[in-house]
Formats: sequence, structure tokens, C-alpha cells
Amino acid sequence: MIAPFWQRGVVYQIYPRSFQDSDGDGVGDLAGIERRLGYIADLGVDAIWISPCFPSPMVDFGYDVSNYCDVDPRFGTLADFDRLVAAAHARGIRVILDFVPNHTSDQHPWFVESRSSKESARRAWYLWRDPGPGGGPPNNWISDFGGSAWAWDEASGQYYYHAFLPEQPDLDWRNPDVRRAMYDVLHFWLARGVDGFRIDVLWHLIKAETFPDNPANPAYVAGLGEMHRVLQLHSTDQPEVHAIAGEMRRIADSYGERVLVGEIYLPVERLVHYYGRETPGVHLPFNFQLVEAPWSARGIAAMIAEYEAALPPGAWPNWVLGNHDRPRIAARVGEAQARVAAMLLLTLRGTPTLYYGDELGLGRVEIPDRDVRDPRELREPGLGLGRDPSRTPMPWDASPQAGFTSGVPWLPLNGDWRARNVERLAQTPGSSLALHRDLLALRRARPALSVGDLALLDGTHPDRDVLAYERRAGDERLLVALNLGGEARELTLPPWAAFARPLLSTVAGAPSPSDVLRLRPDEGVVLAPR
Ligand code: GLC
Ligand code: MG
Repeated sequence: MIAPFWQRGVVYQIYPRSFQDSDGDGVGDLAGIERRLGYIADLGVDAIWISPCFPSPMVDFGYDVSNYCDVDPRFGTLADFDRLVAAAHARGIRVILDFVPNHTSDQHPWFVESRSSKESARRAWYLWRDPGPGGGPPNNWISDFGGSAWAWDEASGQYYYHAFLPEQPDLDWRNPDVRRAMYDVLHFWLARGVDGFRIDVLWHLIKAETFPDNPANPAYVAGLGEMHRVLQLHSTDQPEVHAIAGEMRRIADSYGERVLVGEIYLPVERLVHYYGRETPGVHLPFNFQLVEAPWSARGIAAMIAEYEAALPPGAWPNWVLGNHDRPRIAARVGEAQARVAAMLLLTLRGTPTLYYGDELGLGRVEIPDRDVRDPRELREPGLGLGRDPSRTPMPWDASPQAGFTSGVPWLPLNGDWRARNVERLAQTPGSSLALHRDLLALRRARPALSVGDLALLDGTHPDRDVLAYERRAGDERLLVALNLGGEARELTLPPWAAFARPLLSTVAGAPSPSDVLRLRPDEGVVLAPR
């Protein structure tokens, strides 16, 4: 039986504001994505996940939804959406949408009604509370974007809870009417042919019923961001969330081969619960370990082993290097190691999610103060928490504005866009783009890489910089060896891989077959035994 697309395939994340503008307003749109489907297909990915494209005041750039069943005019229309899905499907590319169930925009009609009075029929759709005993907020919970998570509503004389911005009030997921309304949203898009959802902040949906104070975080130091003052013990990851994930799963599965990817930032032992306990949860609880890990071979080997061991029976793994909320991989580990990281991402066991632009080796884009747009940065400036540096426009070619827009791009381009753009890198042998295409083609051609087993090679210089593992499916056996350091390293190959033939290297030229693999600085290789 052929594995479902969300197991064998690779997901490509598109931040729609920044991919391709088609109407000159400086903001990417759905017609732009449609225009670039050829690029996406040539790259060799199997699915695109599009960050929110629904009507929104854009205070959090679409993660503040004011209507779940339409497209924001800045991105296009429902007709554009249907055209995009049809065109993607015609190329064999699946389409995954971003579902934002934890909170709405404060401009959503549900919240407008909820806020209108204490007696409103939708009052109980959101989390309204009276002031705490001392008169202030009901408890000490802190917004992920800094400041109290409670906003005072003068007119109706209560506080409402917002885990993120005050413009993003949290829904009450204990309320069955809220559940029904949000499940209708899933049906709306599934019936339109989407292949699944990435579920925003899934672990936030349910909060402890009595809203107790969160404990102080003993590890807090200034500069981490105010949210880290407390541990989110009572405000996130409550046991009742799993039943909700299970209900969403049943809906998705009733449409056939569909996928739910949960955004969950939790330690592995808690993360894996989101695969489901008694009943199935989401297909893929996002595994963000590589996004946060120090770049060391030993550490990553331990992480892989721990994750593989923690997976419940039948659970399918997944890996991520970066996204629209975190620094880009090349910004974290440098350009040479970003190539090694790409080989890691695309040869590990489990579904990889590749963030747009990472295939070009985009690094951190410096954003001058006057151009800062991210509310995260605006609320707690100067801590390096801003997300704009990872959200800049895709550079397509060397024409004005890198072919992204005929207008003024909403965020600045990468400074080196004249050299680092799709057109140029596509013509440059050995470029980051060429490497990604080769890796994606290899993964597609080799079941060992897409659906095979993984075994870490142990005894391979645990104190050094080399991370090595075997991938195996049936008779097909491949060895991946990654030098996570900037110095040459040697690896004694196991007998089955001695004198193996290099299929791909992150560095120009290939190492010659031998029983000792000589890895050059920053080199990763995939080897096939003769
Ligand atoms: C998720 C999104 C992030 C957004 C937040 C609030 O973490 O990835 O971009 O700001 O949720 O919706
Ligand atoms: Mg546009």
C-alpha cells in the first residue's frame, strides 16, 4: 500500500504576504501563488501550507481572523482560491490551509456581539471574567506577546482573555456552540477540496477551568520576553484538548486522505500525546526540536533517538527547520551549515516542512526601525523577538523589487537579492536551490529516504561533529553522514557501507569511495552501497 501524501511527501510553507504579488499592492496574493506553481512543482514538494489568507484586520498579519469562510480581498477572492486549488491539484500538489481556532479577531462579528453586553447571546463564546480580588486582572497570566493576558472592557465591565494580542480574544472551547461553529469552518474548506489544515496553537485551546495563577518560572531572566516570567501550566496543554483534536481528526478523516498538523511547542514527552490517546489526535504534531536545538551532532543524535523512542505505535514523525515565527536556519547556523541542515531535514525519517525562501539560503534580513511591522517586535522592542526578518518577500529575479511586486514591497527585500534570487540560483550549479532540488528529487526517488526506517550509527565519534544514520526500506539501504562542524572529519564506515557510492554532497565534488569516509568541512553526503 502506498503511504499517504502526508507521510511520503514534503510540505512547503508559504507566507502568502511574501510569496508573489500579482496586483502591485506590495503584498503577495493567491493569484501570485498560482503563478508560481510551476516553480513549486519543479522544486519537488508535494504539498503547500498557506499561512492564513482569510479576512482579517491584519493586526497579527492574518492570525487575527474576522471571517473564517472567505478570502481577504488583499489575497483575492474565493474564486481565486478555487482556481489555485484546482491548478495545484492538476500538478499533484496538495493544499493545506491554516486554521486559527484558539482566537478570533476582535473585529469578528462573534466578538463584536459578545462584547456588546454581559447578556449577549454570544457572551459565553469568549472568556469573560470579573476583576480579581484586588481589583486588577483575574489572574497572573501573561500574553505571549508581553503584558497581562487580560484586557479590560470598560463598557461591559469585565476582562476578556487573550493569549496573544488584545485584538485576538480567545474563544471558549468548552462551549459546545463554539466547537460546532468552528467545525463548520473545517467542513466549509474540506468540502471545497482542501487537503488538510495546520492548526494554529493547538495546545492553547483549553485553559484550566478555574483559571488559577500560573507558577513563576524559576529560570526566567530579563530579555527572554515577558511571557516567560511564568510557566504556562494552567493556561495551555490541558487534558481536555485531546478530545477536541480527536473531533477534528474525525472530521478530516471523513473526507479521505487529509492531514491535520498541530502547532504545538511542548517538550517531546507532552508533544506526543497530541497523536492521540484513546482516539487518534492530529496526524502530525509539529516537531520543532530542530528549530530550537543547539547545532551539535551529539545533541541532535540524542534528540532523534529520544523522539523516535517517544513516538507512540503507528505515529508518523515530522521535522521542521524554520517557520514564519522563528529565525531562519541560515541566520542561525550560517550558510554552509544551512546546506547540511537541508540534507538533515530532507533525509530524516518523517515528513519535512520546508519554509519558503530557505531553499535560497535566505538569512536574517535586517529591518530598519521605521519598517518594523511585527506586533511582537513593536510590543517588546529590541529583544530580538521580532519576526519580520524571517518574513521578507521571495526574491524571484534581478528585475526591480526582485520580481516580487511592481509596487512597494510590504517588508524590505534581502539585501543581496540581486545575486540571491530564484532565477540566478536556478542557473548556478551547486547553489542552495540546486541542492534542495537534488535532495527533493533523491527523496522522491528513494523509498528508503521517504518512508524507510532510520538507525543512528553509533560509535561514530560521539565527541566529534559527525552525525550519521542509515535509512532502509526493503533492500534499499542508504547512509547519511553530516559534518556539523567547519573542520574535516573522518568516519569509519560500517562494512555494508564501505566503498559506498556518493549520491549527493552538500559540497562541490564528491568524496571518493573508501572504507573511511573523509568529510570535508561543512559537508553532508548521502551514500549508497555498491
Ligand atoms: C501562532 C502563529 C503566529 C501567531 C500566533 C497567534 O504561533 O504561528 O504567527 O502570531 O499563533 O495566532
Ligand atoms: Mg497583492
